[in-house]
Amino acid sequence: MTGPLKVALLGCGTVGSAVLRVLQGQADELGARIGRPVEVAGVAVRRPAHHPDVPAHLLTTDAHALVTRDDVDLVVEVIGGIEPARSLMLAAFEAGKSVVSANKALLADDGVALHAAAAKAGVDLHYEAAVAGAIPILRPLRESLVGDQLSRIVGIVNGTTNYILSRMAETGAGFGEALAEATELGYAEADPTADVDGFDAAAKAAILASLAFHTPVSAADVHREGISTVTATDVARAAEIGCTVKLLAICERVPGEDGDSVAVRVHPAMIPTSHPLASVGGAFNAVFVEAEAAGQLMFYGQGAGGEPTASAVLGDLVAVARNRMTGAPGPGVTGYANLAVRPMAETPTRYHVSLDVADKPGVLAAVAQEFATHDVSISTVRQTGRGDAATLVIVTHSAPDAALSATISALREMPAVRGVTSVLRVEGLS
Ligand SMILES: NC(=O)c1ccc[n+]([C@@H]2O[C@H](COP(=O)([O-])OP(=O)(O)OC[C@H]3O[C@@H](n4cnc5c(N)ncnc54)[C@H](OP(=O)(O)O)[C@@H]3O)[C@@H](O)[C@H]2O)c1
Repeated sequence: MTGPLKVALLGCGTVGSAVLRVLQGQADELGARIGRPVEVAGVAVRRPAHHPDVPAHLLTTDAHALVTRDDVDLVVEVIGGIEPARSLMLAAFEAGKSVVSANKALLADDGVALHAAAAKAGVDLHYEAAVAGAIPILRPLRESLVGDQLSRIVGIVNGTTNYILSRMAETGAGFGEALAEATELGYAEADPTADVDGFDAAAKAAILASLAFHTPVSAADVHREGISTVTATDVARAAEIGCTVKLLAICERVPGEDGDSVAVRVHPAMIPTSHPLASVGGAFNAVFVEAEAAGQLMFYGQGAGGEPTASAVLGDLVAVARNRMTGAPGPGVTGYANLAVRPMAETPTRYHVSLDVADKPGVLAAVAQEFATHDVSISTVRQTGRGDAATLVIVTHSAPDAALSATISALREMPAVRGVTSVLRVEGLS
């Protein structure tokens, strides 16, 4: 092998154009690091006329023909979505080409089949950019931490929702107002559903859990709640107990009598301001990892944007190109542990509940009894106000999520409870 390694770039949008700039601008550096020159073989797009900066001879609308071209060695998929990305990846594997992708939706949907296809073909499939943009987290899970036993990963993996929640905390604004500001500043897309409703974070949680626990986890296995129901009151109540509200992707190994299982969930939660994730503000991402031997680790940085994401794509590109040079793929991904995925109803969580009640004898006892009836023990109770304007703020100990939500439903029906004004899960409190 002497000629340049040729790369097919599928997609030239936010990420693809940044990848192309570096591939062309720093080709000598990259070639030196790989040990062989690297060159762009072609760029597949939907609308060639929209890409005046790309040399015309590189542009094509026939991505499949580009992927299967004999002179193409490696494929970078930054089209996004399920199809045609999946078919293109499979075509690349069949043709013996390694793939680098940033496609969280596809990997979370069909990671098992794609890894199997890559392994069968004896090629690499890398996708560091699919989770938390520039932050190296998948390679640490796949390689650096593979000798350790991971117990828990808690991530802020969606910059849009983190920006919105940060602004709600800073300004006291409601969700709608903060979303409007995020949209105006370009932090939220015109259709923010994938971010705001937690779909994007759920896909990333599935990928993180699969790698951390050597267990196939798909996006459908992830319990998902978004942030559109988080109110200014929730954020204010969090501040009162020294907490802040974040959308968390939580992947954990839960010990059980029948063996361990994994619980994977995405939902807003209060975390203490002293927790390392609490200081992750604006559109930044961070992933907090707990491992038996390593202890606690924190990965922090830019979770999106063309250049930061391109950094992760190019890191993968150099890695797979080096493997191509040595003639053997790197270590694959195993699902050997195949742990059961625990339903959310059985997953232990803690709740913070704020109730408007009448300040009358017996009310506190009746409320406490409702928790006891559902086998939920209370960690702290605080009462503010008097007479008709009394508020009870309760933080529970850990209990199965279903028991906690049943308690809330029962509280809503109690005559002494005028209203349940805030309910949020709590993470990281001692
Ligand atoms: N943007 C980020 O910050 C970020 C961060 C991490 C991961 N990612 C992931 O990176 C991937 C790309 O995201 P992006 O933001 O760069 O998307 P984007 O700006 O929408 O770009 C998509 C590109 O794919 C091309 N394309 C679409 N359908 C095609 C088809 N059938 N054949 C050939 N080309 C096609 C589009 O061509 P035209 O330009 O001609 O329409 C466009 O160039 C996604 O998987 C995303 O989840 C993005």
